[in-house]
Amino acid sequence: MASKMRTLEDMYVDLLKDLYSAEKQLVKALPKLAKNSSSSDLQKAFQEHLKQTEGHVDRIERIFSDMGGSPRGKKCVGMEGLIEEGNELLKEDTEPEVLDAGLIAAAQKVEHYEIAGYGTARAWAEQLGYDRAAQLLQQTLDEESMANEKLTQIAENHVNMEAQ
Ligand SMILES: [Fe+2]
Repeated sequence: MASKMRTLEDMYVDLLKDLYSAEKQLVKALPKLAKNSSSSDLQKAFQEHLKQTEGHVDRIERIFSDMGGSPRGKKCVGMEGLIEEGNELLKEDTEPEVLDAGLIAAAQKVEHYEIAGYGTARAWAEQLGYDRAAQLLQQTLDEESMANEKLTQIAENHVNMEAQ
């Protein structure tokens, strides 16, 4: 059932709950991506991003504890769909190098999705006067952008060529 969102504050809280659910789903999905990648630097990138993602969960929890609320109670269906697409890829009968290229593509969709969400959340936090939350959201946003760039590097350094 849809909840009432009358104010920007309501919308902000809802977006943060959505991001929280997205991060929690990603914490569960990333080990599977790491396990199924054959390139060692891709594996390492997924493992490093898992650690970062746990930190992203913590930051949202901190923001909610500052506001006096709970981040639970919402399911991010966007992230659910992106992860499902990654899982479908794993069921394909694919050469390992080609699978790596596909896993990078799936992970970059995830990163762009999160970058969009955190960009908005940070802007709304600033607008609402939540300076500390805005700072924390910016830190996560920076890490998502770096993770995305790292994936581009790995693809362009060797994965795309090996896939071909
Ligand atoms: Fe994240």
